[in-house]
Amino acid sequence: MWTPDEIPDLTGSTAVITGASGGIGVPTALELARHGARVVMTARDPDRGRAALEAVRAAAPGATAEVRALDLADLRSVRAFADTVDGPLELLVNNAGMGPMSRRTTADGFETQFGVNHLGHFALTGLLMPRLLAASAARVVTVSSDAHSLGAIDFENLGLERGYGMFSAYSRSKLANLLFAVELQRRADASGAALLSLATHPGMTATGILKPGALTRPFNALMRLVAQPVAKGARPSLYAATSPEARGGQYIGPGPKVLRPSPKALDEAVAARLWERSEALTGVRFGEIRQH
Ligand SMILES: NC(=O)c1ccc[n+]([C@@H]2O[C@H](COP(=O)([O-])OP(=O)(O)OC[C@H]3O[C@@H](n4cnc5c(N)ncnc54)[C@H](OP(=O)(O)O)[C@@H]3O)[C@@H](O)[C@H]2O)c1
Repeated sequence: MWTPDEIPDLTGSTAVITGASGGIGVPTALELARHGARVVMTARDPDRGRAALEAVRAAAPGATAEVRALDLADLRSVRAFADTVDGPLELLVNNAGMGPMSRRTTADGFETQFGVNHLGHFALTGLLMPRLLAASAARVVTVSSDAHSLGAIDFENLGLERGYGMFSAYSRSKLANLLFAVELQRRADASGAALLSLATHPGMTATGILKPGALTRPFNALMRLVAQPVAKGARPSLYAATSPEARGGQYIGPGPKVLRPSPKALDEAVAARLWERSEALTGVRFGEIRQH
């Protein structure tokens, strides 16, 4: 069984981890830092971000880690954060996520789970693409979920103004994550860029993803009983981010092992359409993914 002890020496590389103020993002940042990466943790809440950074520094003395502000529910914040990243970027872990919740909208008017989980990360990845392509072989890891298999993308109802359900909104956002990760690999392959894009499913993990509420109460109770600890939930991301055996386009689940995504996550027409709509909605255009 693969463990984080197998992570190679990452000295000289830089990693950005979104949503590193809690949950799975913290052990992800910790293990990358422990193995020598310069780690940029992002947080929407500065206090939670500082606390997570202190936890990483305490567990990995001498690690090079810092925390910067990033709110994926606001494209101005995404742009402001991306502007702070300079030099080659070897690793981007699109980990942050909002779990099932009543319908809300982001600063830009997007349904929040789609806006944060998918569109925010889509825009971030596009804005950081020049930095990723400046690295010799960068990786983008996008944290999806097995819940993606229950998702459906209705291009006539992307705002979910009709028929909103908190769990279907979550599944849809996770399907979008997986469609994006696979399509990014297709596009990198088409232009010969040395970029790997993978998606992951952490497995049911004891985190704060399900906020307390009447509808989520039974799921939270189940989670407390059967969920794995956060350090294990980070393993699929860590494997996808660092293993020499990982391949672009793979979907890595608990174990870590390679999972087969739902066929709808591999639908090329839907992926291409989602990409176009995501570019139009965010105003972030990837262009050709080519190394110069
Ligand atoms: N836990 C599971 O069983 C499970 C299963 C499958 C997939 N996943 C996926 O795993 C990833 C990590 O989730 P988790 O379980 O670790 O949940 P979590 O404990 O709630 O952590 C989520 C992280 O995302 C951040 N975040 C939320 N909204 C954000 C926003 N608007 N802008 C920037 N950051 C934001 C949170 O910040 P705050 O600290 O400010 O809240 C937190 O750092 C998610 O993508 C989730 O969908 C989790």
